[in-house]
Amino acid sequence: MSLLDKFERYPLTFGPTPIEFLPRLTDALGGDVEIYAKREDCNSGLAMGGNKLRKLEYIVPDAIASGADTLVSIGGVQSNHTRMVAAVAAKIGMKCRLVQESWVPHEDAVYDRVGNILMTRLMGADSRLVDEGFDIGIRESWEAAMQDVRDQGGKPYGIPAGASVHKFGCLGYVGFAEEVKMQEAELGYEFDYIVVCVVTGSTQGGMIVGFKPEDRAQRVIGIDASGTLEQTRGQVTDIAKKTSALLGLKQEITEQDIHINPDYAYPAYGVPSHETNEAIRLAAQTEAMITDPVYEGKSMQGMIDLVKKGFFPSGSKVLYAHLGGAPALNGYSYTYRNG
Ligand SMILES: Cc1ncc(COP(=O)(O)O)c(C=O)c1O
Repeated sequence: MSLLDKFERYPLTFGPTPIEFLPRLTDALGGDVEIYAKREDCNSGLAMGGNKLRKLEYIVPDAIASGADTLVSIGGVQSNHTRMVAAVAAKIGMKCRLVQESWVPHEDAVYDRVGNILMTRLMGADSRLVDEGFDIGIRESWEAAMQDVRDQGGKPYGIPAGASVHKFGCLGYVGFAEEVKMQEAELGYEFDYIVVCVVTGSTQGGMIVGFKPEDRAQRVIGIDASGTLEQTRGQVTDIAKKTSALLGLKQEITEQDIHINPDYAYPAYGVPSHETNEAIRLAAQTEAMITDPVYEGKSMQGMIDLVKKGFFPSGSKVLYAHLGGAPALNGYSYTYRNG
């Protein structure tokens, strides 16, 4: 039985995502800690997939039931989330209005033409660039876009940044935890740690709620990529608590359940450090596993550094949740011009 049985789900993904052992990355890091990946980046045929689709599967039924005709959402210029909202709108036959803010202090000649935003435009979304800085909270620009849709005679359905601050935004990653437990039963072993990138919070928040019944929530190691730790931690806490209540779970989520490491978000959201780039190259050159400079490169850097520092006891099995995001690499063509 699943905790999610009472919630409607609109399938947008292929089904359970594969877990694979990464032998060459494991060896490159000394071989004492076994590294595995759960490939959320390969979860769907919709516009290259990624973590947002698991979240949106539980939001779409509410959007359809509301009678809306336009999905309205927000993100940075190279937002994976807005690409996924555009994809879902196309797939279910709704219109899509997006606010794309200047969240990243990064310049590349084609930054606003390639990757996520290119696909977003191709899928017919009305994507508008707005000159506002990074903030994972509820934005005025998003509320103004909803009003604008109403003023044009449309019926908007709002999806906040990262689909996180939404009453059903966390359910998909509760489902992830249940799926991992089922896969562990088939594999015959359990993972000691799960490493996940965290920014708007509902991915890690859902995992925390999903692993809480087995007292494994604190084994979910969030690697912050936002650079605004207090806000991200506050959002994860709030979302996890509300989702736990929504599911009627008896055990309360506590501060001890929430592990977020802030050490790898430097120098800023969306800007890779030298170490982030080295981590991206190592994953690419050992496993052909492509990670991006905004999110997964930072969690990859965090995992690599934590293995090197001995954070994971020898013999541990670590599951890296690969959440997607590779399309953004196209916006960093100059950074990686020599590999
Ligand atoms: C590729 C990728 N990884 C990680 C994250 C972080 O997930 P969350 O916003 O749920 O914390 C996002 C979205 O923000 C993302 O697009």
